[in-house]
Amino acid sequence: MIPPRLIFSSGSLKVLDQRLLPDRVKFITVRDAAGAAKATRDMALRGAPLIGCAAAFGFALELRRLKPGSAAELIKTASRTADLLKAARPTAVALFYAADRMLNLAVNFAARHHGRFSPATLKKLLALAEKEARLITAEDEAACDAMGRYGAALLPRNCVIMTHCNAGALATMGIGTAVGVITAAHKRGKIKHAYSCETRPYLQGARLTIWELMREGVPSELLTDNMAAHIIKTCGVNAIVVGADRIAANGDTANKIGTYGLAVIARHHKVPFYVAAPTPTIDLKAGDGDAIVIEERSCEEVTFVKGNRIAPKNVRVRHPAFDVTPAGLITALITEKGVISPVTRANIRKNLEK
Ligand code: MRU
Repeated sequence: MIPPRLIFSSGSLKVLDQRLLPDRVKFITVRDAAGAAKATRDMALRGAPLIGCAAAFGFALELRRLKPGSAAELIKTASRTADLLKAARPTAVALFYAADRMLNLAVNFAARHHGRFSPATLKKLLALAEKEARLITAEDEAACDAMGRYGAALLPRNCVIMTHCNAGALATMGIGTAVGVITAAHKRGKIKHAYSCETRPYLQGARLTIWELMREGVPSELLTDNMAAHIIKTCGVNAIVVGADRIAANGDTANKIGTYGLAVIARHHKVPFYVAAPTPTIDLKAGDGDAIVIEERSCEEVTFVKGNRIAPKNVRVRHPAFDVTPAGLITALITEKGVISPVTRANIRKNLEK
């Protein structure tokens, strides 16, 4: 079993500190939106759907700090809170989706309650906000299950599969997206072997994904990223599945740095390349991949491994944390509403309308 990622009880949110995994299971207590934003920025919690769920709970906690007041004050606090949460990380659209959903709830509530709020009205708002945050979480959990079913049905028997980064239970409130597909297929006896790429520089594959696969009893091995092409060529890999942080309207997909390279290798070797992501990952406002903001993270995450410097002092470093895989390299998108293939603007729209 994978430990709970978020534990919400009125007044606080406990966040599993993923920086300490796999060695230690420890929780951080968050009491407001600033705490949720900090835990997200610092990577204590990570993974697109999970940072959205944490933002929703952080928003609900922030509203608890409100004193009875006016609708205008509520809108001001809610807008400031949404902005604070959205500033935590720029690429995963699930964060924006969840913050905006909570903001809409507050704005609609303010529109229905003019004048000054009584303590009873405020209590009603808090109950609604907590309910919405729990709903966002429940929807994520259900989406993971559905993607697991659709994805497992796509894979061949005796599947030798590869994944990158961590799109597992640790990145969601359910069984995961890409890793959820692998574990669901494993439960149906379809997985012969799974490979997890270590995912330099933050090592989500080495610290998190392989740990999840081992805990789920999936026959699996860890690779460094530069082994992927050789293993695909020589070890019978017949599917690759990854998650996504943001999918543009045309299907171009932003995911952890290294995903694009894997997709190019997959095309060369005629291996199907699947992206599993819930529909809130699809950003119709982004026409194509060029419109997706790619997060640049610190140099230290590249030059240090577990506190040890591995490159010369003062070296100049690049650290884009994500890349964009063009839709044309993706065999199918797997959402909770079904399988999108070929990946085209029209097919994405059709899936969203289901
Ligand atoms: O920087 P991270 O660890 O938050 O990046 C995570 C990924 O890139 C995942 O593949 C993506 O968020 C999908 S998670 C279901």
